[in-house]
Amino acid sequence: MLSLARPAAARAFARPLARSAAGIAAVRLQHTLPELPYAYDALEPHISKEIMTLHHDRHHKAYVDGLNAAESSYAATDDVKERIKLQPALKFNGGGHINHTLFWKNLTPANSPGAKLAPGPLKEAIERDFGSLEALQKELNAKTAAIQGSGWGWLGFNTSNKKLEIVTTANQDPLLCAFHFFLWLCMW
Ligand SMILES: [Fe+2]
Repeated sequence: MLSLARPAAARAFARPLARSAAGIAAVRLQHTLPELPYAYDALEPHISKEIMTLHHDRHHKAYVDGLNAAESSYAATDDVKERIKLQPALKFNGGGHINHTLFWKNLTPANSPGAKLAPGPLKEAIERDFGSLEALQKELNAKTAAIQGSGWGWLGFNTSNKKLEIVTTANQDPLLCAFHFFLWLCMW
């Protein structure tokens, strides 16, 4: 007769192995602060060097450190309650890391070619769904300004209705639904 229950000796041997494997996985998955794709002062006068330094080196770094700590704690226990307790830290720091990693790539110096909305599919979609770039900016400003506390404003392509839409998320919540993203704004 086959049994799904393993002998006690096998369980005792398997547990340290499982913890060890989880430990190795945690080391392999250590998250790191990505380099900015431009200099800290490259976005002046719109965003100062001091704000970029604070935002990247301290805020984003804190999310990376918090995510690594939460993942290490998660991997170090097999207690379900302890793992459930870690969910808020994983969401907050994981979202903060994901969102800011996207955010840095989303910005570019005003004098770079990518700073201008070039003719093409994105421009056509903006004009189709918002009327104009100015109308998009107006709606984005209004919706992100209405965020209470901190949060994010997103311009995304809704894969359900095939339209560009502006949505917001609270705190560091990432946008985990049927969207492809084009633009991210961090509000704090
Ligand atoms: Fe931020």
